[in-house]
Amino acid sequence: MKKILITGGAGFIGSHVVRLFVKKYPDYDIYNLDALTYAGNLENLRDIEHFPNYQFIKGDINDSDFLNKLFELNKFNSVIHLAAESHVDRSITDPLAFVKTNIIGTVNLLNSYVKYSSNELGDVFYHVSTDEVYGTLGKTGFFTETTSYSPNSPYSASKASSDHFVRAYGETYKIPYVISNCSNNYGPNQFPEKLIPLFINNIIENKSLPVYGDGNYTRDWLYVIDHALAIDKVFHEGKNKETYNIGGFNEWKNIDLVKLLCRMMDEKLNRDFGTSEKLITFIKDRPGHDLRYAIDANKIKKELGWSPKVTFEQGLEKTIDWYFENQDWIQNVINGDYKAYYNRQYK
Ligand code: NAD
Ligand code: DAU
Repeated sequence: MKKILITGGAGFIGSHVVRLFVKKYPDYDIYNLDALTYAGNLENLRDIEHFPNYQFIKGDINDSDFLNKLFELNKFNSVIHLAAESHVDRSITDPLAFVKTNIIGTVNLLNSYVKYSSNELGDVFYHVSTDEVYGTLGKTGFFTETTSYSPNSPYSASKASSDHFVRAYGETYKIPYVISNCSNNYGPNQFPEKLIPLFINNIIENKSLPVYGDGNYTRDWLYVIDHALAIDKVFHEGKNKETYNIGGFNEWKNIDLVKLLCRMMDEKLNRDFGTSEKLITFIKDRPGHDLRYAIDANKIKKELGWSPKVTFEQGLEKTIDWYFENQDWIQNVINGDYKAYYNRQYK
């Protein structure tokens, strides 16, 4: 019986990871620790909340006393750490929130893990991180696991810092660890502040589609369930002290992606071709906007046998359908203090 603490399990990626682990590993006890910030939502896990191997714990990784008590009581074997402030734009307006949760929160978790983890063979502290730590690419090339860190936003700087702390704790306190750095995820349950769900929702509501700058920025998109499957692989088969890059082999310029989305949405909504594209509005650029991300995911492919299964067309179709079928979910998450943020634009 393994006791695994998954942090941030009520969020977008975390909820898919929790569901996968709870269903696939009935012999593991899965604990989901989440502060339920604006991005955390227990609706994401309604279908598995009654499983006997699943337990939710509401708590903040910034509270070290709470974490110590939790670890002392439970002696977790392993941690899969996803809890974070995850949105780049928010990190520009409130960097300290990112320093607190992403850096100090991670160090708090590491401290508790060092003090109280069970230290059995196969245990691991797994940090789920981002490709943004590598900074930006020019028009060519790929991020590999040996690309040097060069973060450009407060978000990516905080994730780079937490990666370094995990590595440093591995060296200093000899805890077993792995890190993965993944590209842009999309899929069901993503908070509609991120490009794809925001634009799907805006098209449904006939609101403008705010494309930053000229839209010629490139991201490498991965369906969230493929990421969860990669996390499963890295958790079980990743080598101690190793880093694995995870990506979709799927680069898109923002403007091309937005136009594709518009075409798919016109079809779904039975609108005339070109209707949604008229909503595109080019607005002032994101400060420090990274030009291009592209992951070389050959290490995880060769060493662990993982590669993405869902094509972009399939993934977008599933995602659009999910947002259509879950309008209540969207209305619930955009209520409250998110409304002001949701309606803001860069001046
Ligand atoms: P998310 O914002 O959807 O979810 C984050 C979750 O963490 C939420 O449930 C939130 O309530 C919880 N949380 C935040 N602060 C907390 C705190 N102080 N204590 C406890 N819980 C807290 O994020 P996501 O997009 O699912 O990302 C999850 C992880 O994966 C993050 O670490 C992120 O950096 C990383 N990542 C995300 C992407 C992506 O495209 N979304 C890509 C690569 C890596
Ligand atoms: O690369 C992995 C990262 O991907 C994760 O670590 C982050 O947690 C996740 O939020 C995501 O970061 P991005 O900044 O790339 O995602 P976002 O959806 O915010 O933006 C994607 C691209 O679209 C980016 O180039 C900015 C642009 N954009 C975004 C929004 C929200 C717009 O043009 N308009 C918008 O309104």
